[in-house]
Amino acid sequence: MTKKLLKLGLCTGGGDCPGLNAAIRAVVTTAAKSHGIQVVGIKSGLTGLLHPESVKNLTVPDVDGILELGGTILGTNNQGSPFRDPIQAATTLAAIQKNWRRLKLDGMIVIGGDGTQFMAKRLSASGLNIIGIPKTIDNDLMGTDQTIGFATAVDIATEAACRLRTSAAAHDRIMILEVMGRDGGHIALATALASGADAVLIPEIPFASDVLLTHVKQRQKKGRNHYLVVVAEGCTTVGGEQLYSAANGNAKVLGGMGQYVASVLHAGTGRDVRVAVLGHIQRGGSPNADDRILAAMMGVRATQMAIDGDYGSIVGVRGGKLTTIPYKTLTHKRRAIRLDDPRIVAAEAMNICLGR
Ligand code: F6P
Repeated sequence: MTKKLLKLGLCTGGGDCPGLNAAIRAVVTTAAKSHGIQVVGIKSGLTGLLHPESVKNLTVPDVDGILELGGTILGTNNQGSPFRDPIQAATTLAAIQKNWRRLKLDGMIVIGGDGTQFMAKRLSASGLNIIGIPKTIDNDLMGTDQTIGFATAVDIATEAACRLRTSAAAHDRIMILEVMGRDGGHIALATALASGADAVLIPEIPFASDVLLTHVKQRQKKGRNHYLVVVAEGCTTVGGEQLYSAANGNAKVLGGMGQYVASVLHAGTGRDVRVAVLGHIQRGGSPNADDRILAAMMGVRATQMAIDGDYGSIVGVRGGKLTTIPYKTLTHKRRAIRLDDPRIVAAEAMNICLGR
């Protein structure tokens, strides 16, 4: 009896991050080893299903050498969900379902952050066979301890922070590093701990400017003339609001909090302050070992789930073990740092100021 050929779609959606190609490679090589599975790459995220002509067959030679490559060989987009507008949503869903049938897909693996996984949830609820792999440098997806891209972003931010610290020390300056993370402080807090920063401001703990100023002055009194603050782009003052740097279609782009903190510290101390905004450097380039390993584990598990016909969930990792997050349980709530998180406890125990 000839074994039925399983045809799997694969796409990467949302903002890029290190480790996407590593996950693609894991899916394609696992599928190849299992025989009878064809993987087709859908270009530029889930909305690529609206353009079936750009679908590409993926075989082992296609993924050879991409493990350490940044970006994604499938392309991506974070232009927002076509399901936001209820009228557009119905037509988009119908078009996707039609193309799904035309492509004769048995299932699809969707590598993406919360925006993409919400679109995937919609497709899954409509009866399509979907499995998710979570990625985002922000590490804010509910149900998983870690997402692909986070570990590398922290490495990059840590290196930047350490470089800023030596420059700050040379000039007796206050240095501020603004990092990404949207409404979560995961990158900022990890970076502050790993770089030995003096202060870290995260969205989960609105900061009081006078507390930060007092901390800077106390440090100076003790003879430490330089000071390094890691600022999460989404943090706020107590009772204040997030700052936005530009408008990008429907999405608001966070930014400007580093500069705001600089103005507060300069006004309050009269000292020289400089700001570095790390931006998309955190998302580009080669994944570190942790992200490659996570991408391998999640890519293999997702493919195995497809082989088993186990659709309708996102792969996650909890307490070091792989797990699944059913799409039907996915809400718009993002994973924030808990106030009893050991990283917060460690930071404050080591006199890193959190502005409270
Ligand atoms: O979600 C990932 C992320 O990099 C956030 O940390 C950041 O706020 C946002 O995307 C930036 O998005 P864009 O690529 O649209 O500038």
